[in-house]
Amino acid sequence: MTRSAIETVVFPVAGLGTRFLPATKASPKEMLPIVDKPLIQYAVEEAIAAGARTLVFVTGRTKRALEDHFDMAYELETELAQRGKQDLLDTVRGVLPEGIHCVYVRQREALGLGHAVLCARPLVGDKPFGVILADDLIEAGDRPVMMQLAERYAATGRSVISVEAVEPSRTQHYGVVDIEAESGERFHSVRGIVEKPAPEDAPSNLAVVGRYILTPRIFQLLETTAPDHRGEIQLTDAIASLIDEQGVDCLEFEGTHYDCGSKLGYLRATVDYALNHPELGADFAAFLRDREVSA
Ligand code: G1P
Repeated sequence: MTRSAIETVVFPVAGLGTRFLPATKASPKEMLPIVDKPLIQYAVEEAIAAGARTLVFVTGRTKRALEDHFDMAYELETELAQRGKQDLLDTVRGVLPEGIHCVYVRQREALGLGHAVLCARPLVGDKPFGVILADDLIEAGDRPVMMQLAERYAATGRSVISVEAVEPSRTQHYGVVDIEAESGERFHSVRGIVEKPAPEDAPSNLAVVGRYILTPRIFQLLETTAPDHRGEIQLTDAIASLIDEQGVDCLEFEGTHYDCGSKLGYLRATVDYALNHPELGADFAAFLRDREVSA
């Protein structure tokens, strides 16, 4: 049976970004650059590589820069064209390839990731869709994680989420899955999922990292998901119900994950992406070597 590709990807970008204040006081954390590209653009490129054509941004106050980033920059483009800066013009125009449609919806209150996804419902409709959390940056070469999830969904029709093994002491920072017996494969059937368990309560050390493909049933489940002790509707809780009803798979992806929601993760990503940058890499490596010698 052939299933349609994942046509729509949702980007929850309404978070306050408090860990990066004051940088994120007036501009979204998803616009923080890794070298020369904002985090959200890496996420968007991953979605498009996986076949997405409609990008749904669930935004909040102070997020207008995101809409501007994916809009046409008329004055800038005219200026670059007049100065004959074709390379830069191509870069600016390439931010949003032809045929890709961006839509925006506001999450008026910070009521959690599940609530943010539910805000996208009128724009997604009754179709399976992807979710990417832009501050989970994953470098996976020419097979980005969303593409791998989309292939799995096409083969099985089941929801599928990405996970990675973390230090057991860190489970309280993530959703954590319980899987069927270890099969030696990268995909597993998920038996249960819990949000941010203490290490002693965690069913495993496989943590959910911000990539999901979900069937539209998740919307109905989110509508009846009770808020947690902080008043937030957790996506994890609705996924727990989806596991019981339809089955959910997880993928232990191959690739390097940078938690760009933390300063250290953000700096790690910056260093690695700078070292791999075609124009900067060699000079930056030399700079780091010099520093090491003089330190
Ligand atoms: C969210 C999810 C969590 C997931 C994490 C991945 O948590 O609720 O299940 O593991 O993203 O980054 P947050 O980081 O928004 O607290």
